[in-house]
Amino acid sequence: YLNYRVPRTRKEIFETLVRGLQRLEYRGYDSAGIAVDGPNKTTSDINGNTICLIKKKGKVKALDEELYRKDTLDLDTQLCTHFGLAHTRWATHGEPSALNSHPHRSDKNNEFVVIHNGIITNYKELKEYLITKGYEFESETDTEVIPKLIKYVYDNRENDRITFSTLVERVVQQLEGAFALVFKSRHFPGEAVSTRRGSPLLIGVRSEHELPTEEITVQQNYCDGLNKKNSHNRPDCSNSIQSVEDGSAVEYYFASDASAIIEHTNKVLYLEDDDIAVVRQGKLSIHRLNWQAGEDPVRAIQTLQMELQQIMKGNFDAFMQKEIFEQPESVVNTMRGRICFDNNKVVLGGLKDHLKEIKRCRRLIMIGCGTSFHAAVATRQILEELTELPVMVELASDFLDRSTPVFRDDVCFFISQSGETADTLMALRYCKDHGALTVGITNTVGSSICRETDCGVHINAGPEIGVASTKAYTSQFVALIMFSLMMSEDKLSLQKRRLEIISAFKVLPDLIKKVLSLDEKIKSIANELYQQRSLLVMGRGFNYATCLEGALKIKEITYMHSEGILAGELKHGPLALIDKNMPVIMIIMRDGCYTKCHNALQQVTARSGRPIILCCQDDPEMSKNAYRTIELPQTVDCLQGILSVIPLQLLSFHLAVLRGYDVDCPRNLAKSVTVE
Ligand code: F6R
Repeated sequence: YLNYRVPRTRKEIFETLVRGLQRLEYRGYDSAGIAVDGPNKTTSDINGNTICLIKKKGKVKALDEELYRKDTLDLDTQLCTHFGLAHTRWATHGEPSALNSHPHRSDKNNEFVVIHNGIITNYKELKEYLITKGYEFESETDTEVIPKLIKYVYDNRENDRITFSTLVERVVQQLEGAFALVFKSRHFPGEAVSTRRGSPLLIGVRSEHELPTEEITVQQNYCDGLNKKNSHNRPDCSNSIQSVEDGSAVEYYFASDASAIIEHTNKVLYLEDDDIAVVRQGKLSIHRLNWQAGEDPVRAIQTLQMELQQIMKGNFDAFMQKEIFEQPESVVNTMRGRICFDNNKVVLGGLKDHLKEIKRCRRLIMIGCGTSFHAAVATRQILEELTELPVMVELASDFLDRSTPVFRDDVCFFISQSGETADTLMALRYCKDHGALTVGITNTVGSSICRETDCGVHINAGPEIGVASTKAYTSQFVALIMFSLMMSEDKLSLQKRRLEIISAFKVLPDLIKKVLSLDEKIKSIANELYQQRSLLVMGRGFNYATCLEGALKIKEITYMHSEGILAGELKHGPLALIDKNMPVIMIIMRDGCYTKCHNALQQVTARSGRPIILCCQDDPEMSKNAYRTIELPQTVDCLQGILSVIPLQLLSFHLAVLRGYDVDCPRNLAKSVTVE
């Protein structure tokens, strides 16, 4: 939403919207669309507004090309106030197509248009109802009920003074599911309304002058045309951010993720569930759908630390590759200010006030999905050892399917890079309802998991754009081990072990660099493997999680079949897969499981298997038995998984490139899974 004294061309507006989409493309990339004020619009002709919708199947690039092909839209038209919408989709209901992509519209005249992130679970009932009222649907999406519904409310309004935000309020009261929504309407030109429930939504604010306020106070009774009588004690939009009266620029950016807007502003405020934000005549104001006594009325404008450079590829071919190579720094950022190497203390600021309570708990439950779940598996053993507590690791979806018993004296950890994964978020709400203390381990400041947990740790890995998670995994790993160190500080019998780990943390970034220097060798191994259909990854103990995580990386970006196998389970089934043609990677480190892993190796070679072995440097026994070895520096057993996962990250990257796939945009996957 922009409001300028000096008008901007439509071309500039397109560029802003498309660039925002490109930064968000990692969240979904099967189709994209845009809604802007229509062709007849001039700065003086704000009424008679028309909305132009342009949608395209495929990546944002395809939409961008389409925009410049459209001769109906004059790129040089100048606009002072403009509110445009853009969306990049990841299909949940309905195949990827231009018709199913957003913005969705109320009717052929585009009276109302909407973009939506999330899922509407009661859309079938709403759709059936609206069809009986004569509304015609053109897509297969759940989202389309929203513009239809708002038009229905508008068509049946009892009063011509009804405001845009009142219409939106009435619509969201009928919706079930998760959503972040932004609305535009030709009946309310130059006005933006947005709201959320369960899906993230933030507002970036950019002004040519210093912002007149650093916070917005939520209005309890929104004073619109219908509600004026409730507002006598509170002037309309009293502390909203004003467009500066001398006419200088103010811009508002509604986005589901800060990376879309960071090049314009680092000042953002996060909306809460059921907040309704309105921008009208350059003023932003927020009110609540249902005001509950005791709710915090303040939405503070925060300054993001994120830099534009962090979300650009730099000299790398793919974000995933860049993020793999960032790991020497990202693990340091996770440790920064938390481990004191002089006195061997570890302090996680976000947990310190709850430490006593955590120490008294009955058990720790670690919950996550995908890679974040693997971080829990990877650290479970050391958590058990250093906290002396039972530790359960749970996949969020399965945890909910089982309605797992949770008690008031449980401490539940929710591990999530995005902080928005729907399954993890629902597991969090479930544990809260059962009275457990909830702890977030997230990489996204202001995310839902971050805000809804009682306390937590930011892993500070920096923005992760590649769909395949890499640096977030190693940072989650580090954060969870730091937690175990913090928990064991006063246990005398564990001091030797703690010191061993803390010293290993000190040199970890250098060791990661050494592993990354193996990139060329790993690329040559990828060259030998890329035409295979399957790849098994085997290990046990501290490296079982490495196998799961390595196999996940391989399958998600190379589309090869890959399985992480616990070496102890080999003879209970998987051994049947082994022959001279089946590629097998074995992780055999010098730790408590070395002998057992060696036995597994014998079993594999006895069946003519030709294993590629990830092992410690200078282990002649391994090179004797291997088809290829990848030799890694040795560190303390519980941190070894950080080093051994990196060759598998690199391998999956090279395999995907050799197989000709887009590493950062694997088919059917999106970065943030905000639907069940
Ligand atoms: C795999 C991957 C996914 C995510 C999972 C959870 O590379 O990225 O498996 O780990 O979808 O996402 P977060 O951590 O955002 O909750």
